[in-house]
Amino acid sequence: MLEASLNGTSLDLVSENVKKLKILFPEIVTEDKIDFAMLQAVLGQHIDHANERYSFTWQGKVQALRLSQTPSTGTLLPCQEESKDWDTTQNLYLEGDNLEVLKLLQKAYHNKVKAIYIDPPYNTGNDFVYSDDYRDNLENYLRLTGQKTEDGLKLSTNSEKAGRYHTNWLNMMYPRLRLARNLLTDDGVIFISIDDNELDNVKKLCNEVFGENNFIDIFSWVKTETPANLSKKTKKAVEYILCYEKNKNDHKFKGLRKESKSSNGLLNQSNAVKRLVFPKQVVDTSLADGVYQAGQYGTSSYKIILLEDTEVKDGYFTKDVILEANFKWGQDKLNKEIEAGTKISIKTIAFSPSYEKKEYEPEVPWNLINRSFNVKTNEEASKELERLFGFKVFDYPKPVSLVKYLLNFNVGQHDVVLDFFSGSATTAQAVLQLNAEDGGNRRFIMAQLPEPCALTSEAVKVGYKNICEIGKERIRRAGAKMKAEQGSAVEGLDIGFKVFKLASSNFKKWNPDLADLQTSLEDMISNYVQGRTEMDVVYEIMLKYGIDLAVPMEEYDVNGKKLYSLGFGSLVICLDDDITTALIDSIIQLKDKLAPEKMRVVFKDNGFRNDAVKTNSKEILKQARIGEFVTI
Ligand SMILES: C[S@@+](CC[C@H](N)C(=O)[O-])C[C@H]1O[C@@H](n2cnc3c(N)ncnc32)[C@H](O)[C@@H]1O
Repeated sequence: MLEASLNGTSLDLVSENVKKLKILFPEIVTEDKIDFAMLQAVLGQHIDHANERYSFTWQGKVQALRLSQTPSTGTLLPCQEESKDWDTTQNLYLEGDNLEVLKLLQKAYHNKVKAIYIDPPYNTGNDFVYSDDYRDNLENYLRLTGQKTEDGLKLSTNSEKAGRYHTNWLNMMYPRLRLARNLLTDDGVIFISIDDNELDNVKKLCNEVFGENNFIDIFSWVKTETPANLSKKTKKAVEYILCYEKNKNDHKFKGLRKESKSSNGLLNQSNAVKRLVFPKQVVDTSLADGVYQAGQYGTSSYKIILLEDTEVKDGYFTKDVILEANFKWGQDKLNKEIEAGTKISIKTIAFSPSYEKKEYEPEVPWNLINRSFNVKTNEEASKELERLFGFKVFDYPKPVSLVKYLLNFNVGQHDVVLDFFSGSATTAQAVLQLNAEDGGNRRFIMAQLPEPCALTSEAVKVGYKNICEIGKERIRRAGAKMKAEQGSAVEGLDIGFKVFKLASSNFKKWNPDLADLQTSLEDMISNYVQGRTEMDVVYEIMLKYGIDLAVPMEEYDVNGKKLYSLGFGSLVICLDDDITTALIDSIIQLKDKLAPEKMRVVFKDNGFRNDAVKTNSKEILKQARIGEFVTI
């Protein structure tokens, strides 16, 4: 039996990587430390010993890298009252600094996210760039959001004059992108909106984080059709969207489907001459009734030979039409197309066949994105959001149509989509709309800092204190609108979301007051931070265990003690005091009822009636083949 105690930190990425190295090169590990000289020896000729080499670096890069590897000491507190459809929804809205949030998601959502869309601050000189604190980033966040002092977020812009202009931005982005990559599925993709302030930096940064080989393209999106006349050199009409795959693969991206109203000729000069049989009754024609004799037809540029006489009656050929010409298709392809419903016509005496597909495969997207792909502009996006709220609630939201179009490149009906700079939650609305269109159940995870709305903004006047309040309300309104407008067509659409808020761990850190050790010790015995609920602790355990925050949770009352069962019994949690072996027996009964592949159980370390009960409980669980016994 595996016996463990949970601590209050998120996944330790460095230890995980060391474990992977140990598997690859067992010989480099001595006394649980990496022997670097041995690693170099093992890698032999692949080591670069040159002093000068191409690299992309900036001040603070190493610290930023370390920051991405330091486990978070935070947790996500469930906030049912601000959520929608808590019991059933699969969507998440996570409030907090995305660096900490991404760290907390590392275990539960590792390799789970099919697409990430982000629209980070562009570093225009006017926008604020979150500044991490390498000593204690969570404390920094709690201080900034007024959870530690009365101050609240004091945000300053990252001004061009500040000297460390690009550096600050890179230090902010680097650890976040590194963590985001871990969450992508092997065939996952990331889209990053950016303008020319940081385009060259973000490209180099992504080459490093995602690998040059995984670069797909830089899409140019026409953000406006009436560009401002501000520069003496160019009018800026586009912004960019960088796209990387986690592992570049052969799957085709899906752009738009060509409309099936167009009719295409079946001849192509560069194809070899082939003989095709067009079955009678199937081919559509406008030729007059009568017999058509074998011979040469066609046009001045195409020679078409009718190999046997044929006849038209009432708009259909009564005999097969056998033609020889430079056809694009062979007989097999022609037969398959006819079977798939493609309409074949021979309209004129030239006997030149044409086809009209019932439905076209989606085309691979262009790297230019504009109205011809049904993607709207910034101005239209602002108006759409304004219509939803009745006033201008947020500056520069992206168009839903843009995010929808991008996601559709590779996101399937059951995939997870993440946006960790979610702003007004455009991405959530895009996911809802995609699901409404095809009945899919894609899920969204939004992360957003509770950045205060500008004091002079309309949003503040109406009562929205921060951007998270706007984001959540947007999802509520967009979902309600879809239900109202589309009724039973979207009956099963999940328009809910579970809200969680970043906070310090529910588990106390051992931080004794040396002058009053007795009180510190007594204080530790209660295990949790004051004011937190049992549900807060249950969700922290889920995060630490890597369980999806949206999995169904069942609660059982066993003789006044509460058992939480997650994932149909794969994790059972009891946080009550005075646990006896009778409760342990009930857990075993639950195991028999739910029959999970493997059951793990979690108790409070000091929750057992006494040490003997704890020892006995472990033994009983072991005999019942319950694999893991964890105390917190
Ligand atoms: C350009 S906006 C995104 C707009 C969004 N695409 C939309 O359509 O509404 C970037 C957002 O990232 C948020 N942000 C900046 N730093 C953050 C951080 N460290 N954690 C979470 N969100 C952050 C900002 O508050 C801002 O709302």
